[in-house]
Amino acid sequence: IPVDPFDLVIFGGTGDLARRKILPALFRRFCAGQMGTDARVVGAARTEMDSAAYREFAREAITEFDDNEECAAESLDGFLEQLSYITLDARGDTGWQAMKAAMRDGPIQAFYFSVGPGLFGDLAERLHAYEIAGPDSRIVVEKPFGRDLASAQALNKGLAKHFDESQIYRIDHYLGKETVQNLMAIRFGNTLFEPLWNAQYVDHIQITVAESVGVGTRGGYYDKSGAMRDMMQNHLMQLLCLIAMEPPAKFDPAAVRDEKLKVIRALEPVDAEDVVRGQYEGTGELPGYRNQVENRDTRTESFVALKARIGNWRWAGTPFYIRTGKRLRARASEIAVVFKDAPHSIFGADAGRHRNILTIRLQPNEGIELGVTIKEPGPGGMRLVDVPLDMSFAEALGPDSADFPDAYERLIMDVVRGDQTLFMRGDEVEAAWAWVDPIIDAWQEVESDPILYASGSSGPDDALRLMHKDGRRWREIK
Ligand code: BG6
Repeated sequence: IPVDPFDLVIFGGTGDLARRKILPALFRRFCAGQMGTDARVVGAARTEMDSAAYREFAREAITEFDDNEECAAESLDGFLEQLSYITLDARGDTGWQAMKAAMRDGPIQAFYFSVGPGLFGDLAERLHAYEIAGPDSRIVVEKPFGRDLASAQALNKGLAKHFDESQIYRIDHYLGKETVQNLMAIRFGNTLFEPLWNAQYVDHIQITVAESVGVGTRGGYYDKSGAMRDMMQNHLMQLLCLIAMEPPAKFDPAAVRDEKLKVIRALEPVDAEDVVRGQYEGTGELPGYRNQVENRDTRTESFVALKARIGNWRWAGTPFYIRTGKRLRARASEIAVVFKDAPHSIFGADAGRHRNILTIRLQPNEGIELGVTIKEPGPGGMRLVDVPLDMSFAEALGPDSADFPDAYERLIMDVVRGDQTLFMRGDEVEAAWAWVDPIIDAWQEVESDPILYASGSSGPDDALRLMHKDGRRWREIK
């Protein structure tokens, strides 16, 4: 279904995110017929170039980063015709009048702040001062949304001077992933799981977002953030919210975000002994983290694992073990809900210990697996064995279903449609920082180094001990 006509300005239009994600995503929506020929995209940045040069820039970006072969090359020319460029100074006067002149009356207006948070306030200010944005305009802001509670509050305040919360779309691209949205469908579209989804039946929950890549060329940014700020405060906490929240009354922005916020606010402070931070070492040809960033004595973590506890009626007593890291054994993100043992075994002690585990594979090989216990076939008496009921989306729904739209495709179209459900509200982001800040502060106070782990491993051994001491263990990263 095509969306209404829109004018989308991309501040930071020549940046990495525009090149890798935003422009290819728009092109795919154009190919799918969702972005109409009446939409306009305006790149804006400091770099001096004209619209023709920007179209070439976009052509190269899309050729390099769009892997959807169904998008015919001939569509590309049509898409590029809808692009233009304005040289603009976010902190000065250059370009703003031209931008005002470029915006049409009528279409939906969206301004994508694909720039560092240091410029959010300046952009908001000028969009207002030059009377470019109005009460119906939307702004899209990227992470990192600050680096702690105080800076996030300052950003929220700066934006709120000129924009209402209903106009602000804070991106967490994990919420745009098909499999992440599917968490809500699994929980609230079935009767099977929800009655068991609480501390009475769930022993613990594991959330893993493992990456096999290292920090690559992003050392400059990453070394100032680390895994806690880069992944935990946003992506992993969002997963935690979707897994732990109460059923919202409706799938709408206010209801969903209210429930997520309640989860974050119910999180207990994390004990120092329940957090492990690690940093990868080089192996063979692969450089270690320290060799990929400027500061060779850096204490920044590329891995973090922790035990979170949610202090509410549903979850008291059920820990959530959460880990994420770079240069791990595999790229594998999953959530495992480990149910408690059956209250009594009629088969006696010899039958061994069996439990149901529901695993939701977020990426790759997206799907759901439910471990169930059955009788081992054969005449040997009642021996029990655990087998998986395994569903991959590609098998169940056909190979095309595995060709998910990229998170950015979904999210940019949601901005145009005016749907904030999959975006973070200001209070949510602040609450997440309020939980994460004391953990980071404690690291800084003790001035200890992160624990080194080998590239291609499952992270530091201490992360294993985090669960062993509770008599549990992580699922293998594979
Ligand atoms: C980004 C982080 O938000 O998410 C990166 O800044 C990380 O460090 C990336 O690599 C992971 O996203 P995905 O979609 O590849 O799982």
